[in-house]
Amino acid sequence: MSKIHAAITGVQGWVPDYVLTNQELENLVDTNSEWITSRTGIQERRILKGENQGTSVIGINAVNGLLKKTNTTPEEIDLLICATVTADMPFPDTANIIADAVGIKNAFCFDINAACSGFLYALTTAAKFVESGSHKKVIVVGADKMSSIIDYTDRTTCIIFGDGGGAVLLEPTEENYGVMDSLHHSDGVGQHYLYQKAGGSRHPATIDTVINREHFVYQNGKPVFKAAVTGMSDVVLRIMERNHLSTDDIAWLVPHQANRRIIETVSDMAKFPMERVMVNIQKYGNTTAGTLPLCLWEWESQLKKGDNLILTAFGGGFTWGAIYIKWAYDTNP
Ligand code: UT7
Repeated sequence: MSKIHAAITGVQGWVPDYVLTNQELENLVDTNSEWITSRTGIQERRILKGENQGTSVIGINAVNGLLKKTNTTPEEIDLLICATVTADMPFPDTANIIADAVGIKNAFCFDINAACSGFLYALTTAAKFVESGSHKKVIVVGADKMSSIIDYTDRTTCIIFGDGGGAVLLEPTEENYGVMDSLHHSDGVGQHYLYQKAGGSRHPATIDTVINREHFVYQNGKPVFKAAVTGMSDVVLRIMERNHLSTDDIAWLVPHQANRRIIETVSDMAKFPMERVMVNIQKYGNTTAGTLPLCLWEWESQLKKGDNLILTAFGGGFTWGAIYIKWAYDTNP
C-alpha cells in the first residue's frame, strides 16, 4: 500500500470588519503612518470589537465557512486543532468552544500554543493523525485576537498586531499530494525577548500585574527580527535541499506576516522572487497564528493542483519551522 498523505482540501479565512488604520494609531501613540509602513509594511489591521468576543469567534466563522464550501457536515470531523496564543479562556481549549458552536460532536479537540508558528505546528501534528490512518477529516484552525493582549499605549507593539485567522480541512490521499515534509525547531532563549508576563501560573493576575501592564505582549524587536530572518531562511533552504527542490520548482513561498522587511530578507536569502511570495501584511498586520491560513485563503483561487508551496513561520518561544506542501486541488477545475 502506498503512503497516506494529508492533503489540504479546503481553506477558509475570516477577519472582523473593523479596520484600524495607521492614521487612527497616530491618535493613540507617538507614531506616524510613514514610519509604520516603511519599517513594517503594515497599513491597516482588523480588530474584533464587542462584548464577549473571543478568538473562538474567528475560528467559528472560519470553520463554518470551510464546512460549507467543502460540503462537509460537522459530524464527519474527527479531530480539530486550534493554534492560538489568545485562547478565549485558560481552559477549556478554544478548539472545544469552536467545535461546540459549529456542531462538531465526533471529534477530539485541543489547542496548540506555539505563538506565530502555531499554525505550522498544528498542521504538522494534524498531518500525523491523517498519515497514520487514524483520522479522516481533520480541521486545523489558526486564529488570534491579538487586540486582547496588546497595549495600545506601547507604540512598539500596537502598530504590528491585528485580529483574524483561518482554517484548513485535511483529508487522506494515496496520491502524491499534501503535506510532504515538515521541519520544526524551538529555542527557549526566546522567552526573554517576546512574552506576555502575567496571567499564567508563575504570575497569576493581581492588581499589581494589571497596574504594571504585565498582561500585554512585550517584545524586544531587534533580536526577534534577527532570529526570525536567520531561523526562517535556514529552515526554508534546508527543507528545499532535502526534498531536492530548487526555487524554480516552488510556486509560492508562504511566510508568516510579521514584518515586510523580514519577508523580503528571507525571500532574498532563499533567492525567491517577491512575485511568488504571498504578502498581505499591509491589510492585516501580524495576526500571529492567523497569518498563514489567511494567506492560503486569499491566494486559493490562484493555486493549482500540483503546485509546490513552502510555508514558514517564526514566533515567540522561540518557535519556528517550514512545511513543504504539494497543493491538492484546483479551485476552478
Ligand atoms: O511575529 C512574531 C515575531 N515578531 C517579529 O518577527 C517582529 C520582529 N521585529 C520587528 O519587526 C521590528 O523590530 C519592529 C517593527 C518591532 C521595530 O522596528 P525596528 O526597525 O527594529 O525599530 P527599532 O525598535 O530599532 O526602533 C527604531 C527607532 C527607535 O527610536 P530611536 O531609539 O532610534 O530614537 C524607536 O523608539 O524607531 C522608534 N520607534 C518608533 N517610531 C515611530 C519604535 N516604534 C515606533 C513607532 N513609531 N511605532
